[in-house]
Amino acid sequence: MSASVSARGRVATYAHRGSSGMAPENTAAAFALAIAEGADYVETDVQLSADGELVIIHDVTLARTTDARLAFADRAPWNVHDFTLAELSKLDAGGWYDDDFAGQHILTLDELLDLLGDRIGLNLELKSPAVNPGLAHTVAARLRRRPDWIEPGARPLVVGSFDEQALRDFHAQLPTVPVALIAYDVPASEKLNDLAGWVHSVNPDIRRLRSEDVARVLEAGMAVVPWTVDSPALWRWAVEAGVDAMITNYPYALNSMLRDG
Ligand code: G3P
Ligand code: CA
Repeated sequence: MSASVSARGRVATYAHRGSSGMAPENTAAAFALAIAEGADYVETDVQLSADGELVIIHDVTLARTTDARLAFADRAPWNVHDFTLAELSKLDAGGWYDDDFAGQHILTLDELLDLLGDRIGLNLELKSPAVNPGLAHTVAARLRRRPDWIEPGARPLVVGSFDEQALRDFHAQLPTVPVALIAYDVPASEKLNDLAGWVHSVNPDIRRLRSEDVARVLEAGMAVVPWTVDSPALWRWAVEAGVDAMITNYPYALNSMLRDG
């Protein structure tokens, strides 16, 4: 078997929060870089603003990846869902990473879909549904207005979550969109057989993944897409284990390894 090909075909690359090893996560800069670097998908995180808009950000607070501490000093602990879209749009989401990226802003889901266009796939994580009630329903309703992303044969889209109930809620709304269950550990085989009826892929934590876990998911009929796989040693291990794709902060380097060995 070639180093670049899993047992079931070519290994796809997912740029985690965009090409976030080289640019501030979940910004237009990181997504544009992922496209330029030839990733197959961007992986990203969606949450709800205070006024029910869908915004692209990983943490449940703004403290780490924006200048909210300065811009809204009296609003600690800066929970995303306490801010309106108008307020979120004023924040700098790039300067924390490097001055060169100052001025990047928090994207809405629609802005992200427009930015990606037909140039790359999207792995959209329903992030922290417990603090974003109605998230699955809101995302499904918004995607329904974007047939370019949800019609069978349209742009590649996978919706994922750690939260199985949120994923079930989304699947009930838009059953033709593939869904991914994100997990720390691969579930027991009996559970995998249940999931196989409606789940496209299991996305496990690479730090806890064993090759027998990969085999069990494949045997159940689902794909395996581990996160977050960032070293050549782990890339090679995962290829040999037979994963279908890898979520990485360094898609350019992963693609180079997959191409050149
Ligand atoms: O989609 C898998 C991975 O992104 C889950 O972890 O914390 O980076 O969202 P996290
Ligand atoms: Ca994520």
